[in-house]
Amino acid sequence: MSEVGARPSGRLRLGVNIDHVATVRNARGGPTPDPLRAALLAEAAGADGITAHLREDRRHITDADIEALMAGISLPLNLEMAATPEMRAIALRHRPRAVCIVPEKREERTTEGGLEVARDENALADFILPLREAGCRVSMFIAADRRQIEASHRIGAPVIELHTGAYCDADIAGDIATRDAELARLVEMAGFARALGLEVHAGHGLTFDSVGPVAAIPDLMELNIGHFLIGEAIFVGLEVAIRRMRAEMDTARAVAVG
Ligand code: PXP
Repeated sequence: MSEVGARPSGRLRLGVNIDHVATVRNARGGPTPDPLRAALLAEAAGADGITAHLREDRRHITDADIEALMAGISLPLNLEMAATPEMRAIALRHRPRAVCIVPEKREERTTEGGLEVARDENALADFILPLREAGCRVSMFIAADRRQIEASHRIGAPVIELHTGAYCDADIAGDIATRDAELARLVEMAGFARALGLEVHAGHGLTFDSVGPVAAIPDLMELNIGHFLIGEAIFVGLEVAIRRMRAEMDTARAVAVG
């Protein structure tokens, strides 16, 4: 992990989210495919971290998966979780390297929006304090919005993750004007957050087609990518999919950094 305040390096970290390996496993209720095996393959393919979202309803990653990942991987684990007492107790028991606080609604298919840090500022400040004291690097998953960034900074979160969903949705829909506006917002807000001293990550919905312009944003330190990679793995295998994502990121970053 970088120090807060340091200039972003040329290399952009890739966190591979393995939730949907567990989704496929849970469709049959047996032990395969095993998310730990996917995490180990991701490491071999050049991932810099493993991300897993322990949802309240345990629809994909389970408590046993978190135990297995903590024991079995050497890469840092980024535990995504809602701001609930149950999840915080689990995080404090395992002490993963990073904890990303995400909004969670039972009826949603995936994490739809960013966290409302500005609205729940005091409660979130109290919520993350024990995690910070336990040595977890806490990030807030937020929209690229000045108010949410300022609130994240005020509550003492060292890291934010910007939601790239709106940019990716517009890319898939072929809505060029919206895509470019969303990208410009990500660029501006990543710079704003860096200037405050925050470490800036991004993710949600990224694909081989959409990752380049995001990877080129110089103020970003890390991307977290899951669903597309697991889907692509069906056709080309997980290692090949991750290696290509890594290459797309590195190429875009090299062009941007010059
Ligand atoms: N970052 C966060 C905080 C997320 O909640 C997710 C989805 O779980 C991702 C990144 C990865 O999104 P995707 O699976 O669409 O690549």
